[in-house]
Amino acid sequence: MSKIKIALFGLGTIGTGVADIFLNKKEHIRKITGHDVSLAQICDKDTLSKRDINIPSDILTNNPDSIFNNPEISVGIELIGGIEPARTFVLQLLNNGKNVVTANKALLAQHGAELFEAARRNNCTIAFEAAVCGGIPIISSIATSLQANTILSINAIVNGTSNFILSQMEDGGTSYSDAVKEAQKLGYAEANPAMDVDGTDAVQKLTILAQLGFGADIDWKNISRMGIESVDAIDFKFAKNLGYRIKLLAVANRGDDGLELHVAPTLVKRDSPLARVHNAFNAVQVVGDYVGPAFFQGLGAGRKPTASAVVGDVIDTILGRTKITFDTLNLWNKNNEIVPIKNINNFYGKSYLRFDAEDRPGVMRDFAAVFGKKNISIASMIQHEISNPDNNNSNKQRAVIILITHESSEGDLLEAIKELENIPSIQGKIIRMRVQD
Ligand SMILES: NC(=O)c1ccc[n+]([C@@H]2O[C@H](COP(=O)([O-])OP(=O)(O)OC[C@H]3O[C@@H](n4cnc5c(N)ncnc54)[C@H](OP(=O)(O)O)[C@@H]3O)[C@@H](O)[C@H]2O)c1
Repeated sequence: MSKIKIALFGLGTIGTGVADIFLNKKEHIRKITGHDVSLAQICDKDTLSKRDINIPSDILTNNPDSIFNNPEISVGIELIGGIEPARTFVLQLLNNGKNVVTANKALLAQHGAELFEAARRNNCTIAFEAAVCGGIPIISSIATSLQANTILSINAIVNGTSNFILSQMEDGGTSYSDAVKEAQKLGYAEANPAMDVDGTDAVQKLTILAQLGFGADIDWKNISRMGIESVDAIDFKFAKNLGYRIKLLAVANRGDDGLELHVAPTLVKRDSPLARVHNAFNAVQVVGDYVGPAFFQGLGAGRKPTASAVVGDVIDTILGRTKITFDTLNLWNKNNEIVPIKNINNFYGKSYLRFDAEDRPGVMRDFAAVFGKKNISIASMIQHEISNPDNNNSNKQRAVIILITHESSEGDLLEAIKELENIPSIQGKIIRMRVQD
């Protein structure tokens, strides 16, 4: 039985879970791999604080060079997060001939091409199951089990924090700010949850799924993104009346004229599998040309589920499975065929719009004219009188208007929204969500 030494960078939430498995499930890992695998070094900025698992002090270091320069280490696990120094550390590992396992979606979404190129140059591998949907084995499923398929679409709930917030608002009638506080109290949201609620985290994960499923190489900042900050309790009520739930969906759709990519709060049919994914759960629906729809659900974050994915990657790397997949997939390779990405103005779909308008004759005619000009037809509409309007001193009656449009192009819809916001009888911003039937 050969001895295999691995090292870990970042002893935070996920790093502690990974260390726990390697230190306390040694026999289990020996049985699976047939090797004596030891977590030989852990690098963290802080080597003094007490952790909630026992870490032998002699394996802790705050000197990353002691790992880069250790010829006995064959796999380096990056669990620091963020871009720097994670990017430099991963490059150093690869340049020193060590395989890498990472859970860092931000790093891959931004520097995937550079890192994968470095891995190929050094005959090493990068494994990243935990970077998308934590414990759900979606990367390996698309990369291996679904290989026979041309992937047609991926629709996913990839951010557990926003799904938790939306579930609390929908099921518990909680306000957005109280739902955020509850998510923070339960450890589902960071002190600053901006990247979760504004869709950045979801877009970064979608970038990785788009590379894996479709070979698309796109800067995550160029993907159309809407967050959940403007979703209001009233939207859940209306969505329910119309037969929908609201989810933050990451969508990749293959079309004849290119790949459509976006992240947006979306009304999904109440009886669809994605609508039934609650709280901090993640889910991915992949449609392949042969498999049809395949649905994956599980915990997308948290110490144990994410550590499970990281350790699975380490085991695959030790056994050589990662190398086979890495070589055959050839991800983020600039020589790969370029997959065209659709311009956002050419996306087609149904939309949900909510706005406040003066409740008087002629107002409907005004906004119907705007839609007519853009060839947007209305599938359903609800008008709800506001019993206590804010502008009490102007005796004007106001109403909330909820519309669901038939399919229209994104370009036409955005222009229509701009025009509607300029009509004096329409007050404030128009809230818009996508609708998926
Ligand atoms: N948390 C989740 O549920 C989850 C799920 C899926 C994927 N991920 C990904 O997993 C990665 C780790 O996330 P996490 O939640 O475990 O983060 P975390 O709790 O913040 O842990 C990061 C650790 O790295 C340490 N660190 C920072 N800079 C360092 C440096 N220069 N050298 C050595 N150590 C350094 C941090 O120390 P200080 O605290 O002292 O800065 C901290 O202990 C991220 O890429 C994240 O996106 C996380």
